[in-house]
Amino acid sequence: MAIAYVNGDFLPLDEARISVLDRGFLFSDSVYEVIPVYAGHCFRLAEHLQRLDDSLAGLRISNPHALSAWTELVAALIDANDGGDLSVYIQVTRGAPPRRDHRLPSDVAPTVVAFCQSRGEPDAAVMRDGIGAITHVDTRWHYCSIKSTSLLANVMAADAARAEGATEALLVRDGAVLEGTSSNVFAVIDDRLITPALRETILPGITRAAVLEIATREGIGHQEIDTLTPAALAGASEIWITSSTREVFAVTRLDGKPVGAGRPGPLWTRMRSCLQAMAHE
Ligand code: PDD
Repeated sequence: MAIAYVNGDFLPLDEARISVLDRGFLFSDSVYEVIPVYAGHCFRLAEHLQRLDDSLAGLRISNPHALSAWTELVAALIDANDGGDLSVYIQVTRGAPPRRDHRLPSDVAPTVVAFCQSRGEPDAAVMRDGIGAITHVDTRWHYCSIKSTSLLANVMAADAARAEGATEALLVRDGAVLEGTSSNVFAVIDDRLITPALRETILPGITRAAVLEIATREGIGHQEIDTLTPAALAGASEIWITSSTREVFAVTRLDGKPVGAGRPGPLWTRMRSCLQAMAHE
C-alpha cells in the first residue's frame, strides 16, 4: 500500500488530506522537489534538499525542517513504501491560515506533504527511437529557478506538445530556448555539448548538473551559453532533455523535423550509460 507523509503522520496515500484553506491549494503558494530513488537509495539527496531550501527562501517560507530531519523523513518514507526504484515527491506550502486572503500570513506553520511514485524502466521505444519535442512560447512567471508548484503554464505547453504528437515542449522566451516544461535541455552543436546558462527563468536541474559533471570528467567539450536560439537548436546534431524522472532522453524530432540523423546520437548513448552508472554508484 502506498504510504504518504502529511505534517508528521505517515498514512495510506488515499487517506492523506490537507485543508481547503491551504495556500498551496488556493494560490499555488508552495514549492516542491522530485527525488529519484535507485534500489532504495536517493540520488543526490543533499542537492535536492538544498534546492528545496533555496526555493523556500525564494518565496520567504521558513523551512520547517533541518537537513537531518528531512533526511530522516525521506528515508522513513522510502522504507514505508518498501524501497526499490521510486520518485519521492515533497511539497511544502505556506500553510493553511483561518481565512483566504492574498496577504502573506505571519504566523502559520508550513504544510509538508510527501509521497512516492514508482519509477519504472524507461519505455523501450523511447530509448530506441527518442522522443519528439516542439518549441513553444514560454508563458511562465519570471522566477522559474524557484521550484514552485505554479505549473499551469508548463502543463498547458506540455499538452500543446501532446496535441502535436510530441512528448516535451521546449520553452522559448526573448528569442532564447530556456528549458523543457519539466526538464532541462542540451544540444550537440559542432561537436560541443551546449546548454543554456542558468538564470532566473531556468530551474537549476540536479540532473543537468550531473551531466555537466560527467562531461567535464569524460573530457566532452561543453559550454553553458547565454542564448540558444531556436534556429541553432534546429541545426543541432543531437538534442537531449534531462530530469530526475527521465534521466536523459534523446529528442529525435523537433517541430516535426528530424534532429541530426533522426536517431538517438552517439553522445547521448555515452552520456546515458555514464549517468546510469553514477546513479547506481
Ligand atoms: N521536474 N526544469 C523544469 C521546469 C523541471 O520541472 C524539472 C524537473 C527540471 C529538471 O530538474 P531535475 O534534473 O532536478 O529533476 C528542469 C520534475 C522532475 C517534475 O516536475 O516532475
